[in-house]
Amino acid sequence: MITFNKQNNIFHLYNNDISYVLMILKNKEIGKLYFGERIENDNLEYLYKEFNSEPSITPSFEGINKGFCLDTLLREYPDFGTGDFRDPAFDLEYENTKSIVEYEYVGHEIIKGYKEITGMPHIKVDKSQTLLIYLEDKLINSKITLKYTIFDEYPAVIRNAEIEGKNIKLNKLSSFNMDFLDSNYELIQLNGHWARECNYTRNEITKGIHKIDSKRGTSSAVANPFIALTRKNTDFDNGEAIGFNLLYSGNFSINVERSPFDLLRVNIGINDFYFSKNLDSKFETPEVLIVYSNKGINKMSQVFHDIYRNYLLAKKENYVLLNNWEGTYFDFNEEIILNMIDSANSLGIDLFVLDDGWFGKRDDDFRSLGDWYIHSEKLPNGLTKIIERCKQYNMKFGLWFEPEMANKDSDLYRKHNDYIIQTAGRKDHPSRNQHTLDFSRIEVVENIYDQMIKILDKYEIDYIKWDMNRCITGIDNKEKYHLYIKNLYYLLEKLKNRYKNILFEGCASGGNRFDAGMLYYTPQIWTSDNTDAIDRLDIQFGTSLAYPVTSQGSHVSVTPNHQTGRMTSLEIRRNVAMLGTFGYELNPLNLNEDEKEKIRKDIKIYKKYAKTINYGDLYRIIHDQNETAYSVVNKEKSEALLFYYKRVIKIGTGLKTLKIKGLKENFKYKVSRINLNREEEKIGIFYGSFLDKFGIYREARFSGQRDEENRYYSDYDTDLYVIEEI
Ligand code: GLA
Repeated sequence: MITFNKQNNIFHLYNNDISYVLMILKNKEIGKLYFGERIENDNLEYLYKEFNSEPSITPSFEGINKGFCLDTLLREYPDFGTGDFRDPAFDLEYENTKSIVEYEYVGHEIIKGYKEITGMPHIKVDKSQTLLIYLEDKLINSKITLKYTIFDEYPAVIRNAEIEGKNIKLNKLSSFNMDFLDSNYELIQLNGHWARECNYTRNEITKGIHKIDSKRGTSSAVANPFIALTRKNTDFDNGEAIGFNLLYSGNFSINVERSPFDLLRVNIGINDFYFSKNLDSKFETPEVLIVYSNKGINKMSQVFHDIYRNYLLAKKENYVLLNNWEGTYFDFNEEIILNMIDSANSLGIDLFVLDDGWFGKRDDDFRSLGDWYIHSEKLPNGLTKIIERCKQYNMKFGLWFEPEMANKDSDLYRKHNDYIIQTAGRKDHPSRNQHTLDFSRIEVVENIYDQMIKILDKYEIDYIKWDMNRCITGIDNKEKYHLYIKNLYYLLEKLKNRYKNILFEGCASGGNRFDAGMLYYTPQIWTSDNTDAIDRLDIQFGTSLAYPVTSQGSHVSVTPNHQTGRMTSLEIRRNVAMLGTFGYELNPLNLNEDEKEKIRKDIKIYKKYAKTINYGDLYRIIHDQNETAYSVVNKEKSEALLFYYKRVIKIGTGLKTLKIKGLKENFKYKVSRINLNREEEKIGIFYGSFLDKFGIYREARFSGQRDEENRYYSDYDTDLYVIEEI
């Protein structure tokens, strides 16, 4: 519901769980009065409070009482230079150098449902209401629209902003700004780098500005465009947690500022660093999804997961795939691939993916990016025989592309050496021997589209892995980073519309572009090039904060692991990959009979529980330096899985229990453990409330007894339990 009270100029956006209260302030800008747990639609004007007088060194506003100081108020879309010394939500220039603006409320609209933004990813939620607030600066004849969509069913709001005007130079335009009355929050962020994406960090917010951003041309593995604010005592199941996630795949910035008055400001949007835009009509910012939870981090991420699964991700099948990359790298030919497909079929694989190396003269990573035609020496029959073999087994077929790139050793570069991003007269900055195509130019994008459709029209392709393996450098124009992303979205949209049945998986050297913007086009993304089960525990834990299990590409690879050299059991590799899209990335021809038999059974186990895993509610139970555990409970609450992982064995840690949340209190459940033979071993029958309050014991074998089973398990131990209503 959205109401506007003309008497006190207050907007109230609310549903059963949350309230968001705004007010037209005395200077006609929009102020924030409240965001949090639902409050009654009564007495809301009490929320507005000014300081009694003008604090020293704090300007007030001409014609308004002295307590009205912008620096001490909660503002919805703050400008700079008019008395508020915090970082503004936007910054622009008119008449070449002037920046002081006065955008004032001129009207609003309340509409049913959502209002789509054009050419950018968006959350399509019908069960919602949208408030559009119109602000205008009459002197420069420019308008800003603030958009708020509140969900009927979820404690969540989508925000973005749009500006209209002419002869204006935009330097910054955040998607939204939110000020808070106190700063007693901790900041959760997801940082990392290649092969260690989305590592969870949680810190106190100290005075000053904390900026989390990407300048890499992709949303990046270094900082995901997600943060959460939590109270000190917030844990997985209790306390306040407010999550913010930007639907954008390029340079972004998240500013978190604790002011001298201990007010907290968050604004998020396209990175204002190395950004500028000459406005000639309209400019719209990407959307941000804001989720409020008063039941801890688990509830917050369950809401993100539900919203993304219901309103962002394209509908898809949960195919168990086999990708040949770690199995063969570039070293394959038709015969090897056909043999791999035969073997994949005998294991129960649904989808075979041919990764890098099938095109141009691509025998290594020095050449052929940009040449999207068959490598005829490796594949003399094109893809015909390979696809026929897949279809014979009723298996789907997928293909790797890296559309945004070129090697200098390619026909594309030889013909169009101006297509790559490079500043004339300056040195180039190759990365993995490759160069970024200038996607800010539409003719470059169309060239790639034309090449891709030649392959996609000719062959029956069910899946595309869309890779992007470098960061962007050498851009000599501050408008280009954003234009690049807009045209990338344009190309993805065009291909999606032409090939409605193709499942797209995103990838950028693993998770260098894992964001909700890309997920709109590619409903699953390769989470990391690191397939080591132990490293993946941290990577997937962080990624799961905002992004659902069904969106996280995760494969079982061989041991010793190719990235870390670590040896782990097939069980822990399975149990980690199962909390993702689940697939294999190895050469099945190198597996022994015992491994094959186990994998066959593991695929069956996965398929049996795939619906619960992909569409259930995920609960984190523990995640510390040594142990990680989750449960995932289906929406009917009739089935759950419990995943437990331990890094190293510790002697004498005692007995502990794992609590299983989210089941029906007064119903009985059978709990079984999947043993090494992949059989269900019954642990017992318990009420849902018992499992919630006491849980189940972790097996005593962790206490250090030296029997055969303990010896087998030792480090990198894991367990998988199945909980079924009876
Ligand atoms: C990137 C991807 C890998 C693989 C290789 C192929 O590193 O992340 O999964 O596709 O490229 O070159």
